[in-house]
Amino acid sequence: MSGVRVILFTGKGGVGKTSVAAATALRCADAGLRTLVLSTDPAHSLADALDVALDSTERRIDGTLYGQQLDATERLEDAWGDIQAYLTDVLQWAGVGGIEAEELAVIPGLDEIFSLSDLKAYAESGAWEVIIVDCGPTAETIRLLSLPDVLGWYMDRVFPAGRKVTKLVRPVLSKMTSLPIAADGVFESASRFYERLDGVRALLSDGDTSSVRLVVNPERLVIAEARRTATYLGLFGYRVDAVIANRLLPDAVSDPWFKAWKEAHAEHLATIEDSFAPLPVLRAELASEELVGVERLRDFGASLYGDLDPRAVLHRGEPMRLDRGADGQSYVLSLHLPFAERDDLDLGRRGDELLIRVGPHRRNLLLPDSLRRREVAGAHMEGDWLEVTFDA
Ligand SMILES: Nc1ncnc2c1ncn2[C@@H]1O[C@H](COP(=O)(O)OP(=O)(O)OP(=O)(O)O)[C@@H](O)[C@H]1O
Ligand SMILES: [Mg+2]
Repeated sequence: MSGVRVILFTGKGGVGKTSVAAATALRCADAGLRTLVLSTDPAHSLADALDVALDSTERRIDGTLYGQQLDATERLEDAWGDIQAYLTDVLQWAGVGGIEAEELAVIPGLDEIFSLSDLKAYAESGAWEVIIVDCGPTAETIRLLSLPDVLGWYMDRVFPAGRKVTKLVRPVLSKMTSLPIAADGVFESASRFYERLDGVRALLSDGDTSSVRLVVNPERLVIAEARRTATYLGLFGYRVDAVIANRLLPDAVSDPWFKAWKEAHAEHLATIEDSFAPLPVLRAELASEELVGVERLRDFGASLYGDLDPRAVLHRGEPMRLDRGADGQSYVLSLHLPFAERDDLDLGRRGDELLIRVGPHRRNLLLPDSLRRREVAGAHMEGDWLEVTFDA
């Protein structure tokens, strides 16, 4: 993957993700880089912010900047069609009526996830030096980024087994019951879909290529959500390289009415800088008007990045580490889980896997060979790191 850079922007609803993503993309393109900005948001706000028309093909916006509105339904059809048809059969067999069965066979939220399944193909096409992704609000992004892990679990267990069973017993089964048996095509679609998503996962967890930037506002709830996001991203091995503090009141605002607001902003900004350190915190002021159109976004990008290269990896952190224990015999597996609280954490072991749950999210971490035959001797949080000790 010759030097393509992928940068995702996420954060709570309305914090300025689309504006920051568009401004970053423009700044990259203005530096002469072939840049593609993608939106997964069906509300078309990327097109509105840039004040251009975008559709599901790449459209030139300005100079070397191209944009695309990803069409989830299209992707859903070609990747999930077979599987959905099979699920519909099963549901109908179970007595669920036609339309209802069809609707039930679509997993909620799946369409958003599909829209990113082509990301790897774009990255590998060689056509782009920078790909900027304007993600949806945090919850959707996390669901998207955790899906390969969840699906991987099913693929490993349900599908290979299911596949063997159906091959052997299909003739018998179909005589005994009328339960529809999945055709080989269904398993093939499922594994193709999984491989595609797993490709996206591999791309996005490669720290030389991909980074996530968290957009926040100087507000308590927004900051709290960004911290949780940082924890979950760490859990799945994705790397955050910067935090963007957007909508700060400019120094030029001196009206006494805003005094308390300015103090609150200063305080929240200090909290953001302290708690996310060593991540760089980029500052963006509240503009005097909405950030619509290429020119305004260009100015916004200039003040946001200043001398910084928008394409650079702004911070390098490792999501996971394996060290020898102090006794020289045991191993310590460390996972970077910033802001994780002990009470939110659950740990389990099953065969070759370590199961880690943080809040509502769970990762099945396949252990490296050197740890597979060892027992978990203990685990604790050390600063931002979950340290799991494996016996000799
Ligand atoms: N620093 C700023 N100064 C002035 N207006 C801003 C600033 N940042 C964002 N806005 C405006 O706030 C509105 C919301 O911004 P934007 O669409 O970028 O947020 P978002 O996080 O992408 O929202 P959503 O969660 O709906 O996708 C837009 O009208 C945008 O122009
Ligand atoms: Mg948006």
